[in-house]
Amino acid sequence: MPIYHRLGNIPSKRHIQFEKPTGGLFYEELFGTIGFDGMSSLLYHHHRPTQVKEILESISTAPKIAVDKNIASRKLIGFNVAPAQDFLDSRVTLMVNNDLHIGVAAPQQSLRTYYYKNADADELLFIHKGTGTLRTMMGNIPFEYGDYLVIPRGMIYQIDFDTTDNRLFFVESFHPIYTPKRYRNHFGQMMEHAPFCERDYKLPQQLETYDETGDFLIKIKKQQTLHSVVYAAHPFDVTGWDGYNYPWGFSIHNFEPITGRIHQPPPVHQTFHTDAFVVCSFCPRLYDYHPKGIPAPYNHSNIDSDEVLYYVDGDFMSRNDIAQGHISLHPGGIPHGPHPGAMERSIGKTETHELAVMVDTFRPLMLTEAAMKIDDGKYYQSWLEK
Ligand SMILES: [Fe+2]
Repeated sequence: MPIYHRLGNIPSKRHIQFEKPTGGLFYEELFGTIGFDGMSSLLYHHHRPTQVKEILESISTAPKIAVDKNIASRKLIGFNVAPAQDFLDSRVTLMVNNDLHIGVAAPQQSLRTYYYKNADADELLFIHKGTGTLRTMMGNIPFEYGDYLVIPRGMIYQIDFDTTDNRLFFVESFHPIYTPKRYRNHFGQMMEHAPFCERDYKLPQQLETYDETGDFLIKIKKQQTLHSVVYAAHPFDVTGWDGYNYPWGFSIHNFEPITGRIHQPPPVHQTFHTDAFVVCSFCPRLYDYHPKGIPAPYNHSNIDSDEVLYYVDGDFMSRNDIAQGHISLHPGGIPHGPHPGAMERSIGKTETHELAVMVDTFRPLMLTEAAMKIDDGKYYQSWLEK
């Protein structure tokens, strides 16, 4: 998405004959979004990308809703979600609305036995624990602790883990995921006041190209259903591509915090934008330096958005009893703020080591049955004076 990129071999001009060294022509595919108006790339395949051989079973992945109208602030214990060997089996959806699904996963094994495509949603994977390589039809991206991986809808991928103790926080977004518009100039370039820039992007490299035919299983997620489809050619058969629509990564550790003399509002932490929610990165930073500054945030009412915070590392100065992998939900309609004692505790502090990912949704979230299993059930009362 972020900048023009190309990998492998492509012809000198689009939509012209591109001959294989062994004879015959490569097969061009436009890989785009929003009709022909959104970002797109042109891919050159060894084989036609349309060769469906068989359609096997379809399995519902629709989340089972436990609470559809939520007013309670909640704390979910993310690390209480059990690990699973398979990448897709390990993904547990916790909070949903018509715009996005939010969840966590603890996959233990690399995904190598089939290919996966989410046809409905851009996926944002945040790597909390583990290292490995995202392998896609448009190239590979090595990942490590702190990486966001943005995988546009329709991307066929597998994922390799070097480790077995892996923890991911993920968002499936039914709206395209972009960088914040206010940080981009008319030409799309990140401007000087942005907290990150193009040099920070992890672009796909190492294009894997397999000129193979046979039986290749792709599990395609579409309309809350996982369809198993067998293709007759290897899904990673792209000899080259160029364009703007491709998977990319960004390390939260490369987010340069914007600070001030008095408390800066959450938008300074914004990292990603969609039409229906934003994603913010809370990173280690110096605190406010006004002599009477209060580093802890003020109480705030998200009247029209739900706020999800995924706690990654460090100290969480505005909260009591918060640990790695915890997920707080502060629903719209009621105010929230520092826990008792946290405001006073923050005064005089000069820096924070907190690391957290926030997702603010513009429409209310529903909670799944899986979420209720890891809900501590008492967080909503945690602001009472003792
Ligand atoms: Fe908040």
